[in-house]
Amino acid sequence: MVTHSRHALHQLRAAVNADPDQFSRNVYTRLFAVDPDLRDLFPATMSGQRDAFYRVIDHVLEVIPSEHGHAELIEFLAQLGRDHRKFGVLPEHYRAMYIALMGEFSALMAGFWDADTEQTVSQAMMLVTGVMRGAAETAPHPALWTAKVAEKYRISRDLAVVRLTTDAPLRFKPGQYLEVQVPQWPKAWRHLSPAIPPNPDGELEFHVRAVQGGTVSTAIVSDTRVGDVWFFAQGHGTLHVDPDRDVLMVAGGTGLAPLRALIIEMSKRSDSPRTHIFYGMRHPGELYDLAVLRRIAGTNPWLRVTAVSEETSDPWWINAVATPRDLGIEHRIGTLADVVADAGDWSEHQVLIAGSHAMIEATTRRLVVAGVRKSRIQHDPVD
Ligand SMILES: Cc1cc2nc3c(=O)[nH]c(=O)nc-3n(C[C@H](O)[C@H](O)[C@H](O)COP(=O)(O)OP(=O)(O)OC[C@H]3O[C@@H](n4cnc5c(N)ncnc54)[C@H](O)[C@@H]3O)c2cc1C
Ligand code: HEM
Repeated sequence: MVTHSRHALHQLRAAVNADPDQFSRNVYTRLFAVDPDLRDLFPATMSGQRDAFYRVIDHVLEVIPSEHGHAELIEFLAQLGRDHRKFGVLPEHYRAMYIALMGEFSALMAGFWDADTEQTVSQAMMLVTGVMRGAAETAPHPALWTAKVAEKYRISRDLAVVRLTTDAPLRFKPGQYLEVQVPQWPKAWRHLSPAIPPNPDGELEFHVRAVQGGTVSTAIVSDTRVGDVWFFAQGHGTLHVDPDRDVLMVAGGTGLAPLRALIIEMSKRSDSPRTHIFYGMRHPGELYDLAVLRRIAGTNPWLRVTAVSEETSDPWWINAVATPRDLGIEHRIGTLADVVADAGDWSEHQVLIAGSHAMIEATTRRLVVAGVRKSRIQHDPVD
């Protein structure tokens, strides 16, 4: 890229960064002026959306003039384009976005907007919208799948298991998470991790915790009914097990789901590596899935299960079906991070952690200090 073009994109990035929220706000205003019907594709509140949009544009303006990262940028934009299909975005909408972006950029750069600058910026935005649109048009798989709720039961006040069936089996790997939309909250996409691997009968199972003040999770736990139709989009995530190294798994709460899917998949193979899973909650009676883990461990000698709880016993309002002791499962008291780090030498293990942001951070820190290489620790991105 010639120096002038590079300079123009740097200047533009600085102008966008002077007030990122205003930038995104203006682009959307222009977009809806070009085609007012497009407003209906978005949820009522767009503040989170504006931030996400600005971050992508900022990233684009950083990478295009630089020497590196072009291939990764193209792949990222292609995936974003494929993902946009689930929002109802059509190929022709990208032209409207191009017009909105160019309009806003020319206003931001007023005084410096000569023909060369216009051409440079136009090429950059053609690239972005062209890659997104092209990837959406040529995507090999449908944008959306649907599945019907076949069973739902509440395990506790804030936890539910939801089982669904699909006509066409969904494409995801065990350990991945899916983008999900439920009928109670149209247009609100959330991530949920299937708790069983994909199977030819199209069965799905999710474990959902209602977070305090959470819109979608609360609706699922309280209002989901048999017959509800859920929408699913892409599977994401790279949690996986290497067959030739012992495994440490650390599951906090519903973080058990993706690890459970991996364990069920491993139970079908003959070469699964030795695996020790620590499954933790605040109270012992909240460890709702211990019986399932014990059943799998009963027929798969490579699996060892340790129950972990911060409290030694349950408060009166928890009616545990079976305690770790009833099930004959080893039980340790403490936080997952402390218990796992003190339980052995994990420096030669591959480590998979799933659960809350705080637990993942604390456990990773303790394990790295104890000599586990960071590159051997896997976890999903956190919301
Ligand atoms: C990779 C991945 C996999 C996931 N898998 C599962 C799963 O299998 N089961 C499951 O129940 N959830 C899972 N989640 C969390 C889920 O995607 C939602 O973020 C969560 O259900 C909250 O959504 P909401 O609409 O109820 O909350 P929102 O309405 O989006 O948020 C409302 C309030 O809750 C807070 N909040 C949001 N998320 C959390 C959280 N996780 N913990 C505590 N407070 C929060 C927000 O800060 C906000 O204040 C996963 C998240 C990720 C990133
Ligand atoms: C330059 C091109 C574009 C970029 C960089 C971009 C960027 C983004 C990003 C980062 C998100 C958030 C993704 C997520 O939450 O998973 C998003 C969501 C969305 N985008 Fe785009 N987008 C572009 C073009 C378009 C176009 C042309 C439309 C059509 C009108 C569109 C409509 C939407 C909608 C409806 C959402 C979902 C909003 C929500 O539900 O919160 N985008 N976009």
